[in-house]
Amino acid sequence: MAKMWAGRTSGIIDSVADDFNSSIHFDYKMYKQDIKGSMAHALMLGAQNIITKKEAETLIDGLQSILDDLESGALKFNMKCEDIHMFVEEELTSRLGDVGKKLHTARSRNDQVALDIRMYLRDETNEIIELTKDVISAITEKAEEHRSTILPGYTHLQRAQPITFGHHLMAYAMMLMRDIDRFEDCLKRMNISPIGCCALAGTTYNTDRVFEAKQLGFSGISMNSLDGVSDRDFSVELMSDIAILMMHLSRFSEEIILWSSWEFKFIELSDAYTTGSSIMPQKKNPDMAELVRGKTGRVYGDLMGLLTTLKGLPLAYNKDMQEDKESVFDAVETVKMCLKVFAPMVATMNVCTDNMKKAAQEGFINATDLADYLVKKGLPFRSAYKISGQIVSKCINDGKVLETLSLCEYKSFSPLFDEDLYKEIDLKTCVEKRISEGGTGLASVEKQIKAVKEFLNQ
Ligand code: ARG
Repeated sequence: MAKMWAGRTSGIIDSVADDFNSSIHFDYKMYKQDIKGSMAHALMLGAQNIITKKEAETLIDGLQSILDDLESGALKFNMKCEDIHMFVEEELTSRLGDVGKKLHTARSRNDQVALDIRMYLRDETNEIIELTKDVISAITEKAEEHRSTILPGYTHLQRAQPITFGHHLMAYAMMLMRDIDRFEDCLKRMNISPIGCCALAGTTYNTDRVFEAKQLGFSGISMNSLDGVSDRDFSVELMSDIAILMMHLSRFSEEIILWSSWEFKFIELSDAYTTGSSIMPQKKNPDMAELVRGKTGRVYGDLMGLLTTLKGLPLAYNKDMQEDKESVFDAVETVKMCLKVFAPMVATMNVCTDNMKKAAQEGFINATDLADYLVKKGLPFRSAYKISGQIVSKCINDGKVLETLSLCEYKSFSPLFDEDLYKEIDLKTCVEKRISEGGTGLASVEKQIKAVKEFLNQ
């Protein structure tokens, strides 16, 4: 069958080329945005007397009936159509006859597709924000429960200083809050309407772009028609923001995987978020966390793909740009799935507080506090640091820990040591003393929790 654009050519396209060229198998997802966009366009055409008000009404009713039928299942997508825009227009024309053919006045598929994708991604971005909030809320609840649970804090994956699990968790809440901030910022630039830019140069009709943009909830219109139809920087930006969010989820996943190992046993995931092995009966594998970590690479690939597609394109629209959708859809779907599994996985994980405590007692993680003790007694920090290091070395040789070294032994390193040192190196004291802003001390963790809760409730 000849295409709607038959005229200059026969509109008969080779069937393999037709499959290659068509995008309906993935852009059908934008049907709602396409129809809503067309309704606003018809309304504008009527308001500007480019078509009659009656014709505008007929078009709008026809579009509404297509939307209703698609949603009820009475109408199926015709996968023989080139894309979603052609499908809706063809269906409309078959329902309304000649009036249907008036819809495409003063627009082009180039501004139509740019409009649809902005509207589609705008909705998806808002959903990603809500799902990210669910993860933050699960993290914050766990953090509150464990605001005094002690575990080792690590640098270089070596035990470093004692911290609370609440503090550790809240670090991720902070990262995810910034991710939301980035999505909200991205929305500002995404929410600009390109419709009315037409094919590339604007139009000779007396259109009202601002009216049409307002109907569709946009905050403004693109100021340059070439730019409006040919950039996809908002998709690149969204995918960059998704990639950063995935990077954060991936780091968290890595810790969940480590913590679930027998070597750590800091947490036990709920059965609902683990799998067994087909051969090893003892296994309980953290597959969900591993998949989040794995899918992060895939999302980075989506971002790189679109950046590469766009990098050499001359203005304005080029068919290469049809390649923008699958990557951004994939990144969006992937991150949404990851967020949906992440929130309950965190909420249901069991924290093995005794194992955390035991690990904290074994790694000399109070050595900094020992040095600080000597500093408070008047020794310069560098000298205190050296003495503490020598004490740690002695403990390692003698198979002891700082808590089990006698006062007499301490005094052989410095006369400044006294009975009160044991209280100073007690892990609970070490944590409680870290009262600096943003530190692991209780007041700071509670302040973080409060700030995050306020953010979630606003
Ligand atoms: N399916 C096309 C896309 O996704 C729509 C725009 C087609 N425009 C054109 N001039 N062929 O990019």
